[in-house]
Amino acid sequence: MKKFKNKNLTASSKHWIARQFSDPYIKLAKQKGYRSRSAFKLIEINKKFKFLKNNLNIIDLGSAPGGWSQVCSEINKNGKNLSIDILDMDKIDNIFFYKKDFNESDFYDFVNNFFDQNKVDILLSDMAVNTTGNRDLDAMKTNSIALDVVNLSRVILKTKSSLLVKIFSGKDEDILIKNAKHSFKSIERIKPDSSRKESREMYLLCRDLKTI
Ligand SMILES: C[S@@+](CC[C@H](N)C(=O)[O-])C[C@H]1O[C@@H](n2cnc3c(N)ncnc32)[C@H](O)[C@@H]1O
Repeated sequence: MKKFKNKNLTASSKHWIARQFSDPYIKLAKQKGYRSRSAFKLIEINKKFKFLKNNLNIIDLGSAPGGWSQVCSEINKNGKNLSIDILDMDKIDNIFFYKKDFNESDFYDFVNNFFDQNKVDILLSDMAVNTTGNRDLDAMKTNSIALDVVNLSRVILKTKSSLLVKIFSGKDEDILIKNAKHSFKSIERIKPDSSRKESREMYLLCRDLKTI
């Protein structure tokens, strides 16, 4: 049998493999049965701000492979959990998964029907575009998704409820925060310890949606 040779790998593949082996959150995710290391970002943010609870209506946008949805399933045991992604996601107890682009025109109607015309308590979005290597472009595209999510939150969330959304720190970040401030009374900009230091990824926890 032909032996697998490290020298056949590109530099970026070697870097990826080295990171997989050395990352403590990847090891921990395997131990605890989480599908992604991202689960720890939500656990960490919730430990500090305690916004996820039982008996809520929760939407997880960009849910695949399912780390955040697993956390929602554990906490919101008796509530309704809707997870959305353009990719497939394997079944999780107590999670209704729908393969869909959140930007499609019938998304709002779908959400209304799913929650029996009731509004949503928590909107989560860990959505990001596939990175291209051009850091400014990647930040611009991911923040454009985040802006759409902030706009969506205004129509689907209950008054006084919360949005947690991924952003990339960059030039247009301030515009995004300013926009979110129009709708929410409190905005926290968070970099969890479990988020890779070299990544521009940050989260905005927007709390207390104002009455519209
Ligand atoms: C970083 S991953 C999410 C990881 C997830 N939170 C977890 O814990 O496993 C980002 C996800 O956003 C999804 N996504 C990107 N654009 C989307 C869109 N327009 N609608 C729905 N999902 C989208 C991607 O397919 C990808 O699965």
